[in-house]
Amino acid sequence: MAEPRANHSSHGDANGAPRRGFMFQFLTGFIGFAVGLVPAAMGAMFALNPLMKKKNAAGEGGGGGESADGFVNLRVTAESLPENGTPQEFKVRADKVDAWNKFKDVEIGTVWLRRNKEGEIIAFSTICPHLGCAIDYRSSDGDFYCPCHTSTFNLDGEKQNSIPPRNMDQLEIRTDEQTGELWVKYEKFRAATHDKEPV
Ligand code: FES
Repeated sequence: MAEPRANHSSHGDANGAPRRGFMFQFLTGFIGFAVGLVPAAMGAMFALNPLMKKKNAAGEGGGGGESADGFVNLRVTAESLPENGTPQEFKVRADKVDAWNKFKDVEIGTVWLRRNKEGEIIAFSTICPHLGCAIDYRSSDGDFYCPCHTSTFNLDGEKQNSIPPRNMDQLEIRTDEQTGELWVKYEKFRAATHDKEPV
């Protein structure tokens, strides 16, 4: 007479298989959750770190202040510029922020400001579009002058010889209606290119 056979059904619990399956699924799910949690937590840390937040109000912070759309307060009024159009040089100062540090009131560049014939205020970067030397104003000749390759620009920033690939880089500028202070969008552009390409 044949002996009864042991039950080896996959649903049986003779060897604890269902319990091991449950533990395996649980551990797999937990590890997946933990792995996903790390980048999420790091993202939250960066988002919550006040040093990572951009200033969102004009004038907030140190230096001349920087607006949310990248304009920097030059702390000079249009009225203070010469009416005869003579350019004036101004330092651009703003707070600089990297991942974890904040440097207050750092010099980030220099601009030329002047009134044009129509009385509008125009701003130019002092960086030569040829190879990046500093452009001076020559009062004796009434023009802008780059000493590196003896290039000149008229007071509207137009190049007067063929060495620079483009005119001086004009920058966006606006006036605070309440204070009359001028704000410039300070940008740097690639050297030696025909078109203005922000870097
Ligand atoms: S860097 Fe100004 S002309 Fe060459």
